[in-house]
Amino acid sequence: MGILDGKAAVVTGGGRGIGRGHCLRLAEYGASVVVNDVDPDEGKTVVEEIVKEGGKAVANTSDIGTRDGAKELVEQCMDAFGRIDACVNNAGIVRDRTFLKMSDAEFDDVFRIHAKGTFMCAQEAALRMREQGSGGSIVNTVSAAHYGNFGQTNYAGAKGAIASMTYTWALELARLGIRVNAISPSGSTRMSATYKGADGKVVEAPFVDPTLNGHFVAYLCSDEANWITGQLFGTGGERVVMVEQPRYGTGVFQVGGWTADDLAKHFRRVMGDKMQPVGLMKKPYPYLEGVTPPEPK
Ligand SMILES: NC(=O)c1ccc[n+]([C@@H]2O[C@H](COP(=O)([O-])OP(=O)(O)OC[C@H]3O[C@@H](n4cnc5c(N)ncnc54)[C@H](O)[C@@H]3O)[C@@H](O)[C@H]2O)c1
Repeated sequence: MGILDGKAAVVTGGGRGIGRGHCLRLAEYGASVVVNDVDPDEGKTVVEEIVKEGGKAVANTSDIGTRDGAKELVEQCMDAFGRIDACVNNAGIVRDRTFLKMSDAEFDDVFRIHAKGTFMCAQEAALRMREQGSGGSIVNTVSAAHYGNFGQTNYAGAKGAIASMTYTWALELARLGIRVNAISPSGSTRMSATYKGADGKVVEAPFVDPTLNGHFVAYLCSDEANWITGQLFGTGGERVVMVEQPRYGTGVFQVGGWTADDLAKHFRRVMGDKMQPVGLMKKPYPYLEGVTPPEPK
């Protein structure tokens, strides 16, 4: 008996890397899985792996960044397994470029697959879950890049959008018994091999098994986690950590409101040590001396 026996799930971008791990684990815990990937060979191989281990899986090759693709994915789950209980939005690409050099196409491609693909697949799945009346689980994928990351305007922005959509859908779908959470995974994959530091050099990191994230995804998709919604979790390796949500923090208040002159007089003294570190690397806040243009050449 597994905690996902009798459930059916779709996983986008399940052909390799972290998504492949989600598919293997979901099947291992008893779910029937639609393994989606635009790369047909990779998806087929994962299906074969699952079937060889006695699990149930079918391949789907839809581009999840299109409405037709999202629809076909969910329809295939209904046709193959008669139901849908979980939608794991994992597919993604990177098109890194510094902000001032990024093209519209680089921005649009990343938003289409991450943000809009997540929107469309989750919506198609939730509509079916509502018809079924049995609730369900949506698991989205964010990244620590959404705190801000050098060279990733498109990716960081799309992941931030996914975080905000996760909170919103959790509020809207709770009455239908549908839970919505997100993971910020980690693992050594084709994508992680492209990570660069602010110096533009590829970051060398120790191997982290990308399939380990799948255990937490399986837990989130199970009824054991029916009390968890609207949450973001850092997963991968040996960790499961809460991702803290943005919220209003310390402030200053003045009867009648603040004028710019008053702010110029008091704001830095009161709030100077409250500025937060910026970006994924979370170095100490480096801008207290001012953010100034370069000296004229
Ligand atoms: N690897 C990490 O450490 C890491 C960290 C944070 C977040 N993530 C996120 O985890 C997810 C998986 O990343 P990964 O590292 O496994 O990447 P990956 O490149 O190894 O795998 C992504 C898969 O998505 C598929 N895909 C891309 N576009 C698609 C589309 N339009 N339709 C269907 N499939 C599509 C690709 O073919 C590929 O197999 C992504 O959302 C990524 O942003 C990864």
